Amino acid sequence: MNPKIRKAVFPVAGLGTRFLPATKAMPKEMLTVVDRPLIQYAVDEAREAGIEHLIFVTGRNKAVIEDHFDVQYELEATLSGRGKQEALDLLTKDLPKPGSTSFTRQQVPLGLGHAVWCAREMIGNEPFAVLLPDMLMKGQPGCLKQMVKVYEEWGGNVLAVEECDPSQTHQYGIVGIGAEVGGPAFRINAMVEKPKPEVAPSNLYINGRYILQPQIFDLLSKQEKGAGNEIQLTDAMLRLMDRQYIYGCRFDGETYDCGNKVGFLAANVAFALDRPDIADEFRPELEKLLAR
Ligand code: UTP
Repeated sequence: MNPKIRKAVFPVAGLGTRFLPATKAMPKEMLTVVDRPLIQYAVDEAREAGIEHLIFVTGRNKAVIEDHFDVQYELEATLSGRGKQEALDLLTKDLPKPGSTSFTRQQVPLGLGHAVWCAREMIGNEPFAVLLPDMLMKGQPGCLKQMVKVYEEWGGNVLAVEECDPSQTHQYGIVGIGAEVGGPAFRINAMVEKPKPEVAPSNLYINGRYILQPQIFDLLSKQEKGAGNEIQLTDAMLRLMDRQYIYGCRFDGETYDCGNKVGFLAANVAFALDRPDIADEFRPELEKLLAR
C-alpha cells in the first residue's frame, strides 16, 4: 500500500509584486475571496484531503499568516462577552489542532523550487503535498482529494492539470499526455514551461497542486537556477520523471489564478454567487453593474 499523504507544504514566501501596493505590507495569501483569506481555502482543501500536518514556508512580512492560524484571545473574549456564538464557532472551526502546524522561512525568495526545498527537514522521507494558495480551486470534492484518490491507486507523483485555451499555452506549465491509466489519470511524458501554442504538447496546464515523492529534495538541493533566474520546481520534476512515474490528474472543477487581478476578481464573483447567505442579495447588484 502507498504511504498516506500526511503533510502539506504551503509556499507563501513570494513577493506578490502583481498585487502591489496591496501586498506591500500584507501577504498576497491573506487577500480575501468573499470573507476568507486565500490561505484558509488552501488549508480547508488540504484538511478535506486528510492532511494532518500543515507546513508554511513564509518570508518577511508574513507573520500575519502565523497569527491567522493561532488563537486570538482578545477577540474571542470580546465575541463571547457579546454573545456572538456564530462568529466564535467559525473561528474555532478553522483553528488547526495544537502541534499540527509548522513554519519555516525562505530567507530570500529564490523561486518555488527553493521554497519547497526549505521544507525538507519537516517533511523527512515521505511523500507530501504542495498547494499554491494563490491558485484557488472550486470543486466537489476538492482538488487535492481528487489527487489523493489517484495517488492511492497508482502511487508515484501526481500533478493536478486543467485545460487552458490552446492559444494561451505560453502562460502556463504544460504537460504531455502519455498512457491513460484510468479515470482522470494519465502518465505525464513531458513538461514544458510556457510553450508557444504551435509547440505545446497539449493544452493541459499544471494548476498548482502537487503530490511529490521525497526524492525531489535531492534534485532541488542542486540549487540550479532556471527560468526567471529562479530555482524552479518544474525543472526538478523533469529530472524526477526520468526515475519515477508522474501522473496527471485531470481536475474536475475550476481553478482561479488569484495571483493576477482578473482571476482574483472572477473568484470573488464565482464564490459569492455560490454562497447561500449572500447570493440572493449579490446577484441583482452584479446584474445592475453588467447592464451599465
Ligand atoms: P508566484 O510566482 O505566483 O508568486 O508563486 P509571487 O512571486 O509572490 O507573485 P508575483 O509574480 O511577484 O506577483 C506562486 C506561489 O509560490 C510562492 C508564492 O508565495 C506563491 O504562493 N513562492 C514563490 C515562494 O514561496 N517563494 C518564491 O521564491 C516564489
